[in-house]
Parts: sequence; structure tokens; C-alpha cells
Amino acid sequence: MSETVQDKVDFLVIANRLPVDRKVDDDGNVSWQSSPGGLVTALEPVMQRKGGAWIGWHGAPDEVVDPFHHDGYDIHPVPLSAQEVEEYYEGFSNATLWPLYHDCVVEPVFHREWWDAYQKVNKRFAEQAAEQAAEGATVWVQDYQLTLVPMYLRQMRPDLRIGFFLHIPFPPIELYSRLPWREELVEGLLGADLVGFQTPGAAANFLRLAKRRPGVTTSRGKAHTRDGRDVIVRDFPISIDSRGFHELATSEKVQAEADKLREDLGNPETIIFGVDRLDYTKGLRQRIRAVGELFKEGKLDPDEVVFLQLATPSRERVEEYKILRDDINLLVGQINSKVGTIARRALVYRNKSVPRDVLAAMYQVADLMLVTPVRDGMNLVAKEYIACRSNDDSALVLSEFAGAARELKQAYMVNPYDIDGMKATIMQALTDSPKVKARKMRSMRRQVFDKTIDVWADDFLTELEGR
Ligand code: ADP
Ligand code: G6P
Repeated sequence: MSETVQDKVDFLVIANRLPVDRKVDDDGNVSWQSSPGGLVTALEPVMQRKGGAWIGWHGAPDEVVDPFHHDGYDIHPVPLSAQEVEEYYEGFSNATLWPLYHDCVVEPVFHREWWDAYQKVNKRFAEQAAEQAAEGATVWVQDYQLTLVPMYLRQMRPDLRIGFFLHIPFPPIELYSRLPWREELVEGLLGADLVGFQTPGAAANFLRLAKRRPGVTTSRGKAHTRDGRDVIVRDFPISIDSRGFHELATSEKVQAEADKLREDLGNPETIIFGVDRLDYTKGLRQRIRAVGELFKEGKLDPDEVVFLQLATPSRERVEEYKILRDDINLLVGQINSKVGTIARRALVYRNKSVPRDVLAAMYQVADLMLVTPVRDGMNLVAKEYIACRSNDDSALVLSEFAGAARELKQAYMVNPYDIDGMKATIMQALTDSPKVKARKMRSMRRQVFDKTIDVWADDFLTELEGR
């Protein structure tokens, strides 16, 4: 494959994030780091396999970066000014749409200037794609930050095949209707040939909205537009590179890392683990409270059990994320001041991101995995745990409000709002017989190894290219 950036490509992914994030420190030193979140985890292996180009923001405001070749595909960085980061990314994307789409678990904020910036930036992404795409190319637009791109792109380049995939939930009409720009966003998505969601419920919610647009009719899994096109609307539950995760987790290097980690944690009998972006949708408050109470009530013994929780810093300038960070720090401090000893903490909390191999080692040592979002499009952490953990004497506690609950039916299911229920389920997951746990793990492993990220991408692209 060529190492130089191609002029035009037949396959393009457009996402707000690039797989690598450009960091500039106070002294002006530049470094590139892996970007956070499930979208990048899922799409990176797809791009490594398919080649083409990835258009996205490189994470540093007010900087123009030249295109470059990376891991078998081209990267085209889209610049954003500091004001656009504030209004389009932190504002409209992450303080308006993100909470609105996650069942308004915090109050969405509506500002007209943010909407203006959102339109302007979406147009810029579409223009960049229109420039890079060869005649008849396939363009795959990703996620809520870029809802208007399909419509803009169709206006600019009607020859393209345009797909859109939403990585997060799509809310019921009653919540969505609060959005002052609800019509525009639906029109934006109807610019695509194929619109994919994580669950059938999300696809149905969108079809109900599309049907309300003048001149648009819908039939099972399709919207017929005013300009005579059929837009396919369907669920495509996303996944991970299961074999890649498994190979990494069972490699000698990671096994050695796992041994060291267990020792660093004081060789406890049981390790409970959670790993998330520090986001209010992940149910961290409820989870930490539940485990904390189990320690305080003596149901978990800090001499035997450690709860390790990682939380990657995320969207740190958005108000609700600042509040969450402070709340969690306080909660963790309160628990550790009451249970455990100075030498041995019951709850080991790290507000940082770790490299993939360290994460794999953590999955390997985790006897019990807690994935308890109050709402989540899919949740890849749940699938990563199943792919990495080779010991059958393991358990996944999973929120019924994660998209993954539809597939990982054998998990220990919880309602994260029900703290007592969650505590009881955690205890059951810890005390069930090895036979029961093994049956559950094997069934979930089959699911995760059958429905990999390659299956997801091939399903979506086959449907799109068949149009
Ligand atoms: P979201 O996309 O909302 O962040 P997902 O669970 O779908 O949630 O994806 C999160 C991704 O980020 C996973 O691939 C997970 O491994 C990774 N991740 C989360 N927290 C960390 C961390 N502290 N260090 C490294 N990777 C992390
Ligand atoms: C979720 C979203 C992605 C986003 C990621 C990280 O996975 O679906 O679109 O990239 O979170 O969030 P960030 O705001 O850092 O890009």
C-alpha cells in the first residue's frame, strides 16, 4: 500500500475524532496519543483492514495540520478554532445532543450560537469529504457530532453512496421533540442512503420522527423521501476486534503485566473492576455507592476484595463533567476513609487512561466486571472484558440500559438506579457456583467471537453498497 496520501479515495470515514489526538503541552511540545472512546476503538481495525481515508478533528484548537498516512490509511485533519471547539464540540455536541440523546439524564442546554457553529462545522466536514471522495465513492459518516453532513454532502456530491451510523442511543420522540432544531437534524440524516443505529428501538424512534416530515413516508425499515429516494433505517449493533483483544490479553507480555498488577493490588482473593470515560452516563456514582456500601456493611471484606476503577478524563471543560469529577473524588475519599487500611485501600481509583496492553491485563485479573451505565448506545467495555478474560470463573454485571444488554443476555443484569438490587446482584455474581458462571461466560464468549467488528462493518457496507 502506498505510504503517500492519495488525492482521491473510494472509501472515506468521517468522524469528529481522528484515531490519534494531537497534544501540545505548555512548552509547545507536540505528541500524538490514542483518542478516547468506543468510536475509535471500533473503527480503527476497520480502517486498518479497508484502507481509504479518515477525515476528522485532530483534537488541538486553532491548528492546521497537513494530511498524513497512518496504519494503512490516510488521515485528513479538519481544523477547528478555539471558539468552534467551545460552541460546536463542547456546546452543541456535548452539552445539547449528548444529554438529550441519553434520556436527558442531565439537562440539555440549548443555545442558538452553538447551533450556528454546529451547522458551520458540519458544512466544513462535508466540504472536505466532497474534495477527497472519488467519483461514486462510499462515504461513511459517524455519530451525533455530524448529523447534518449526509444532507450537505448529498447536495454537493449526489454521485456518492452515503452511510451514517449513530454510536449513541436515539431517544424517544417525546424527549427528542424538545430540540428547537429537531426538523433540521432529521433532514440531515435523511441525506444518507443508509442510517444505522445500535438497537432496533433507536431505529424505530428515528423512523417515527422521519414520518412527521412533510412529504416523507415510511414503511418497515425504510423512509421514502420527497426527492424520491429510499433511505434504509436499521440496527447494526457494533462490536470489537474480539480476536485482537484476546490475543493481546493472552500474550506473555500481558500475562506478566497481569501478575504484577495482582501483586501491586496486594494479591487479593477477588478483584472487582470498572473502566469508563468519566461520563455521567456511565453510572459511576451509583456503582461506587453500591460497592462502598457492601464494604461498609461487611459483606465485602477489604482484606480479601479490591475494587479497581479507572475513569479516563473526558470533555473536561463541560460543566456537568467537572461536577462529576469532583463528586467521584469525594465519594471515593469518603469510602476509603471508612473502610480498608492505610496500607490497603478497598477502592483503588485512577482518573487516567492506560495503554491497551495494561487495560488487557486489568481485564485478565478482574474476577468481576462492573458495567453499569444509566444509558449507553452499546458499551464496548463489556465486550472487551468477555474477549480478554480467559478464566471461566468470572462474571459480568451489566446494566439493562446498555445496548450490549440485548446481546450479552447471560450477564448479571442490573438496573443501576436500584442500588439495593445492584448490591444483591453483585453478591450473587460473586457467590454463584463456578458451574453457573462458566455457562454464562461461555455463552457470552460465543456471542462476542461470532459478532465481531468485521461482521459489523461488512454488514453495514454490504447493505450500503447494495444500494
Ligand atoms: P464510550 O464510547 O462511551 O467511551 P465504550 O465502552 O463503548 O464507551 O468505549 C470505551 C472505550 O474506551 C473502550 O474501548 C475502552 O477500552 C476505552 N477506555 C475507557 N476507559 C479507558 C481507560 N481509562 N484507559 C484506556 N482505555 C479506556
Ligand atoms: C463516544 C462517542 C464518540 C466520541 C467518544 C469520546 O464514544 O460516541 O463519538 O468520540 O465518546 O468522546 P470525545 O468527546 O472525547 O470524542
